[in-house]
Amino acid sequence: MSSMSGRDLVRSIWAVGSAGAPQGLRTVRAAWRRRRTDAVGLPARGAERARVPGPVQDAEPAPGGGVVRFSRSELRIVVAVNGAVFWGWDGAGPEPSYALAGRCPEPDPRAVLEPDKDGGWRVVAERVTVMVSRHGAVEVRTPGGVTLRRDLPPRWWEPVGGGEARWMQRTEVAADARFFGLGGRACGPRLRDGTYRLWNTDPGRAFGPGDDPLYVTMPVQLVVADAATHLVFHDTSWDGTVTLREGEEGAGSGHDRAGMSELRMAGGPLRCWVMVGTPARVLLAWASLTGAPALPPSWALGHHHARRGFGSEQEVRRIVAGYQERGLPLDAVHLDIDHHDEHQVFTVDQERFPKLPQLAEELRRDGIRLVSIVNPAVKAAPGNAVHDSGTAEDAFVRDASGRLVEGVGWPGEAVYPDFTHARVRAWWGRLYQERLTAGFAGFWHDMNEPTSFNAFGESTLPRSARHSLEGRGGDHREAHNVYALCMAQAGYEGLRELVPGERPFLFSRSGWAGIQRYGGTWSGDVATGWPGLRASLSLVMGLGLCGVPYSGPDVGGYDGHPSPELYLRWFQLGAYLPLFRTHASLRAGRREPWEFGAEVLEHARVALVERRRLLPYFMTLAQLARRTGAPYVRPLWWSVPEDRALRDCEDAFLLGDSLLVAPVLDPGSDRRAVQLPRGRWYDTTTEQVYEGPGQVLVDAPLSRIPVLARAGAVIPVRADDGGIELEVWAPARGRSGGGLVVEDAGDGWDEPEIERYVARWEGRKLVVQREGEDGLSEPSHPVRLRGLGAR
Ligand code: GLC
Repeated sequence: MSSMSGRDLVRSIWAVGSAGAPQGLRTVRAAWRRRRTDAVGLPARGAERARVPGPVQDAEPAPGGGVVRFSRSELRIVVAVNGAVFWGWDGAGPEPSYALAGRCPEPDPRAVLEPDKDGGWRVVAERVTVMVSRHGAVEVRTPGGVTLRRDLPPRWWEPVGGGEARWMQRTEVAADARFFGLGGRACGPRLRDGTYRLWNTDPGRAFGPGDDPLYVTMPVQLVVADAATHLVFHDTSWDGTVTLREGEEGAGSGHDRAGMSELRMAGGPLRCWVMVGTPARVLLAWASLTGAPALPPSWALGHHHARRGFGSEQEVRRIVAGYQERGLPLDAVHLDIDHHDEHQVFTVDQERFPKLPQLAEELRRDGIRLVSIVNPAVKAAPGNAVHDSGTAEDAFVRDASGRLVEGVGWPGEAVYPDFTHARVRAWWGRLYQERLTAGFAGFWHDMNEPTSFNAFGESTLPRSARHSLEGRGGDHREAHNVYALCMAQAGYEGLRELVPGERPFLFSRSGWAGIQRYGGTWSGDVATGWPGLRASLSLVMGLGLCGVPYSGPDVGGYDGHPSPELYLRWFQLGAYLPLFRTHASLRAGRREPWEFGAEVLEHARVALVERRRLLPYFMTLAQLARRTGAPYVRPLWWSVPEDRALRDCEDAFLLGDSLLVAPVLDPGSDRRAVQLPRGRWYDTTTEQVYEGPGQVLVDAPLSRIPVLARAGAVIPVRADDGGIELEVWAPARGRSGGGLVVEDAGDGWDEPEIERYVARWEGRKLVVQREGEDGLSEPSHPVRLRGLGAR
């Protein structure tokens, strides 16, 4: 591309603001340029031949399962020791895989392949039976014999002249099943009938519930049905679509219509993993396969404040002082591209930020960390240090003819590191030293879908761009969806080397299956408005069910001016989400809690103070997420997936086991309906008692959103002296309760033990004890009893 057009593009983008590239720039010229780039760089598809597996031939047992041969394909099935089942067509095995945390888990020697009726085969394992029909349909059944999913024989289309086959897999699920997952979706968390694309995408403007796909897509579906929950993961990073159609029950007529999921992939192996059980068991198996979620340092569980336009040290000081003078808790300040030298990654504008390390040190003394944005696009200009060192490493993506692929990022014309190469990741990881020296403690990976402003007709790199893919070689069609995952790996591993004693903190706009091992995500440029508020909750819940427990939205929405009410309601929701961050575009102006009037400030203060009080609980949830894969934010059906009413409830969530949060998602409400799971619940402000299951109306004045505590819950909170205190909500008479506490491990790698508590009635006295290997003992923390007034 000519250098002039690149600069013009960026200038126009800046002129219209920062919510991505304006529509007007989707020029015919750019689209034409992409077609030309890809026409040269990609093989022409030409005529295609369709293929199905054909009739079964024979089978050969192997540890954990075996291989079933068909006339035109073969199917390999392996049950792994963690209970997950793998199968792959055309000889595909579980490796190599960007999703797996390490090597594929060992096969379970107890699972055996044996002949089934009608010429089919089956593998019987402890938690599932997999049946393979003689034409290649694959059915997953519970040990009780109930079918959870039935994959029809797959179909491939192969270019006659050779090249990547595209394929399609259609699946039937139970009529009562509901679909969740597929990464971060704005229209969920329940995924209704429709087609969802698997291609990480910067929508180029602030998004709402109707926008799909977004920054994090993954071929991960969580299917919740009466018989069991299962997670299915198609381990293929290529572009694809999933079409979902929920089933319908025949209401006693016996004519159920099965639910349907149809996956179409542009290439890559047809292979998948299936995990069956309760939601908790399924997420545990998923984490054991793709990696334990990174444990954020404790400060990252507090309140973060970001926005465009922190353009100088004075401005940062002014904002921090604003928080401090008003006694508002603040744990992190994020610096966006405004602090860079000409928006170039790994630089500081020395004129406006002459003493950044000193500022960082001062803030740190006040308990506030600095977090830096990190973009992958490197200004394509010799003389720029990152560009020059990357060039020396041969780090940047090239096209098939060996030329560097130039796109357009915030610094203008830019080149993109190929993070699918271990050497490039190591180089990039070392660059974080500059950030550490500048005083940053955490990292915010952005624009890493990767985004290039429409330079190729689509806001990413051309599909023909070449990538190493760990030495296997390939192009952007395969590398695109794992680009941010590999960037996160680079940052995480770099930081581990540079600061071995501290847990890295990073979160990333884009990602794929496995991103949780390096950090979390955030919701990207969500549109200011009530629909955006709802979308932001959908994203957090959906990502949690894909194994990414740490995320949160831009409180207030990215692009506009929220009304004081909307800002406050968003703030109140954000206070109960793992990443609690205010952020906004340049256009949106100031977003500090005091910018919306005295009333909002008072109520925001309550939310901030409550978040700080709940930090020990958030730390416990973070530690449990790392050990079990369970998200902090869970759908109401988490432990009762068979409860149909809860399964359809999308406007409230469980925060761990103990709290139910019912955000206000509509304007003008001062009460809202809440669908309660079974048992007694207390309004944590008024201590009013509600009995579940069923729907209740609860007060939701502007001052707070309803937060209910489960009777019997033992919740670690921060006491006035800064230590931990156990807040115990009285169990109903005759019942008992309990809870777990995992203390803050500091910011290092110590493994704190899990404390287990029980709460039970002894006559008229509520007793709280710690449960250990040697029996019951006094609690290790002071106890505060609540809800005792209830009868
Ligand atoms: C992208 C990010 C946003 C950031 C902006 C400028 O739009 O999503 O959070 O403020 O780029 O860096």
